[in-house]
Amino acid sequence: MWSSNVSTGAELSISAIPASQLAQDFGTPAFIMDEADFYARACTWSSALNNAFGSNAGNVYYAAKAFICVEVARWIKDIGIGIDVCTGGELAVALKGGIDPSKIELHGNNKSVAEINKAVASGVGTIVIDSLFEIDRVAEAATKNGLVQKVLLRLTPGIEAHTHESIATAHEDVKFGFSIASGAAWKAIEQVRTHASLELRGFHAHIGSQILETESFEISAQRLIALLAKYRDEFSAELPELDLGGGYGIAYLPGENNLDPELVMNTLAEVVTSACANQKLAVPRVSIEPGRAIVGPTMFTLYEVGTTKDVVLENGSTRRYISVDGGMSDNLRPALYEAQYTAVLANRSSSAKKISSRVVGKHCETGDIVIREIDLQSDIAPGDLLATPATGAYGRSMATNYNHVPRPPVIAVKDGKARVILRRETEADLLGLDI
Ligand code: LLP
Repeated sequence: MWSSNVSTGAELSISAIPASQLAQDFGTPAFIMDEADFYARACTWSSALNNAFGSNAGNVYYAAKAFICVEVARWIKDIGIGIDVCTGGELAVALKGGIDPSKIELHGNNKSVAEINKAVASGVGTIVIDSLFEIDRVAEAATKNGLVQKVLLRLTPGIEAHTHESIATAHEDVKFGFSIASGAAWKAIEQVRTHASLELRGFHAHIGSQILETESFEISAQRLIALLAKYRDEFSAELPELDLGGGYGIAYLPGENNLDPELVMNTLAEVVTSACANQKLAVPRVSIEPGRAIVGPTMFTLYEVGTTKDVVLENGSTRRYISVDGGMSDNLRPALYEAQYTAVLANRSSSAKKISSRVVGKHCETGDIVIREIDLQSDIAPGDLLATPATGAYGRSMATNYNHVPRPPVIAVKDGKARVILRRETEADLLGLDI
């Protein structure tokens, strides 16, 4: 839940910097990011992949959509892993951060022709093709640039992953990829093979996000391998790559656990190895795309309390509403997926009795809830700070300007020093778009 350099003692601190100091220096709300923890998690996933798959380990492609800014792109470059981008915007940040284009993978179910051209011209290593239209578009871009583009096909293996409906991606009735069961995948394979400017490297599947068990990943791998075998039978050639996507879940609440990288990678290595042996296939290079599992636990959001009020509920009990200075503009996940978070009083300790509370934001909307139900100290008052852990993934990256609220900064903390890596938006930024 908390990153490794956070201490939740009397006053919450990160790398020995107290929360109150961070609030004073950088303002609230703010995303506070544990830089060393980010490095450690990225390296852990990379070594889990390498240890499990050995010489068949492909790349870890960090999923930029979880969170990216130029400084984090520089960290990715430094760590030496790859990156998955799914728009021209994310591609621009990755390139600006100096990431080797050959380690960039482009995703997206509706990449524009301009995005495809930019990616091909930049030398992006892999384009993951998502539709029949795109096969021709990528082929044309590659021809125009005088090169052969490496591509994967994004497949939907027909899996009902155990997660929220909006973030499951590999059942049949979904906008992404080519269905294996319906034959769409096969049609795409044949179409790719008609283009000399495309090199089909293998298959990709991403089954969903915030998945906390390994079974769905195992089934997905088996179905992709069955198709690799069919390909070999038909064309007497083996495809060398498999990308199993991201989706590894993390802990948001006390008592929950992150999906263990070593456990998932070892399980997948066993499944892939035995499925390939059964099909008499060479084991392909296996890549993964974790986003949340790398960046999620590395940040917490620091809020200041502005008001509180007590509401007597129908059953006679009392609920305390605690309003903080952010809300659904910096954390859309509770409203979108009924995601649950926790929070602690961050600027002091308190032994006051805990009472039933709801943490809400400052937006003009009843659904602007950060935490629907939590027991918090009854003496929490305006001016206090609350910290919500595990907001690194899909927090700042899905932040909006709803109600013209400027989006919060990201403050990286390392070795007792804090610095802004993505600044707070200002009113000038907001007004800057108006003509
Ligand atoms: N690869 C592909 C092709 C993806 O579509 C995604 C996420 C990932 C990798 C990374 O998944 P992760 O490891 O982060 O779970 N906004 C939602 C999550 C949407 C995920 C979309 N695709 C949320 O806040 O839960």
